[in-house]
Amino acid sequence: MTEPLRVLQVSAELFPLLKTGGLADVAGALPAALAAAGCEVRALLPGFPAIMAGVQQAEAVGQFTLPWGETVQVLAATLPASAARPGLRLYVLHAPGLYDRPGNPYEDAQRQPYADNHRRFAALGWGAAHLARGLDAAWQPQLVHGHDWHAGLAHACLRFSPGPRVPSVFTVHNLAYQGVFDAMRFADVGLPQEAWQVDGVEFYGQLSFMKAGLVYADRITTVSPTYAHEIQTPEQGFGLDGLLRARRDVLSGILNGVDETVWNPASDGLIVRHYDAAHRTGKARCKAALQEEAGLAVRRDAPLFAVVSRLTEQKGLNLVLDGIDTIVRGGGQLLVLGSGDHEIERAFAHAAQSRPGCVALRLGYDEAFAHRIFSGSDFTLVPSRFEPCGLTQMYGLLYGSVPLVRAVGGLADTVVDADLATLADHTATGIVFADFTDAAFRHAVRRALALYAQPRAWAQVQQTGMQQNLSWTQAAQRYRAVYDAALVAAA
Ligand code: ADP
Ligand code: GLC
Repeated sequence: MTEPLRVLQVSAELFPLLKTGGLADVAGALPAALAAAGCEVRALLPGFPAIMAGVQQAEAVGQFTLPWGETVQVLAATLPASAARPGLRLYVLHAPGLYDRPGNPYEDAQRQPYADNHRRFAALGWGAAHLARGLDAAWQPQLVHGHDWHAGLAHACLRFSPGPRVPSVFTVHNLAYQGVFDAMRFADVGLPQEAWQVDGVEFYGQLSFMKAGLVYADRITTVSPTYAHEIQTPEQGFGLDGLLRARRDVLSGILNGVDETVWNPASDGLIVRHYDAAHRTGKARCKAALQEEAGLAVRRDAPLFAVVSRLTEQKGLNLVLDGIDTIVRGGGQLLVLGSGDHEIERAFAHAAQSRPGCVALRLGYDEAFAHRIFSGSDFTLVPSRFEPCGLTQMYGLLYGSVPLVRAVGGLADTVVDADLATLADHTATGIVFADFTDAAFRHAVRRALALYAQPRAWAQVQQTGMQQNLSWTQAAQRYRAVYDAALVAAA
């Protein structure tokens, strides 16, 4: 038997320790999925309070000094195995001066990015490079896999630190967040002057962590095939489309999977009743319990539309706000769980106040409630402006909460619009609309209401979605192939 490939995964979040979005779900699920593809993955994380709290049995394996003189201890710990998943070895950067702050890992209480974020995530990059160079004598990775801009600098640190070449793969989860800093921060992060160039980390006179990943990684991936194309266009390239086009031969789109040890209505410990595609009566109980819990009228016949989302511009929620009338006039209900932009929060709060029993809002972040929402709702709304992959539409599919999505990024790759042809050949799994306009969204809602009103077609679409194979198996094999290509490129 061949030895597994040792991979160091680098990310700012990892479920179940710390999660603000889909990145954490992916970082939490990939290591186990990759084990089946012949990889031994360990994860490197910043020592944010939630992460430190989750690794109390950690031991120190070494330390290193940052370019500005601060010392970081590298701890190793094991995330305990559960019935469903094996234990995961973690490295955590213990640097309280950088990470020991309450609340959101990236922003202060006023929702402003921390002024020293370049240092906080340069430390993550250097941590990865030191581990790749043998900081832990007991385990040295053969490849580094960084996720999003937080890990972007790792690829530059690796390239510019002395020692044999260690290949790396960089995954873009969202090109909209780039980690761009004032040029004067460049001196701080400890890269040689030659990195400050157009073919390096310089981005229109500023320092870009995202660019460090895109330039210095041997292979680039993003989280859906459609998004891999979209980011090569000026409309969705956020200024990096030229670079992405230049590197298109090493760029691939690998669709995320769903961690079925966490998201499966037949075994989910957080929902009221279990059910599956063949036995869906439990879902009706979940719906009644959800309506009651959310303060909505408990009505079995009222189609319940749900949003579980960060409330940001990306997610296209102004379309939902405009569409509330159409939902309510059609006899439907709307439930929103989310937090984010104050303006969007206020608009939904106003809608909920003016339509009690029909529209409900829960502000904040609540993992267990999210599970109950997918289990109890009839439709999951994801009308995003752009969506690299999107996980909630996939959770919706598996939980029989039929996704209503805009045809963009990973949403376009995962949901098949219900029309006469796709209903006839049993491939329909949701409602898909194209234009980012109120009219197009309202029309999609009307189509959803019409589908719901036809019990046989409705049951068919719901059931087809629940039967989709969204497991990580295929994606893990694709990542393995990308790793192998990176190893060859760096040899
Ligand atoms: P993004 O990463 O852009 O936020 P995704 O759809 O990939 O979008 O992933 C979002 C993840 O965060 C999903 O697991 C979703 O259930 C979860 N989520 C988003 N908002 C909330 C919330 N307010 N409470 C609980 N879970 C949430
Ligand atoms: C990002 C994207 C989202 C994707 C997630 C996980 O946060 O916004 O579309 O599903 O990363 O890859």
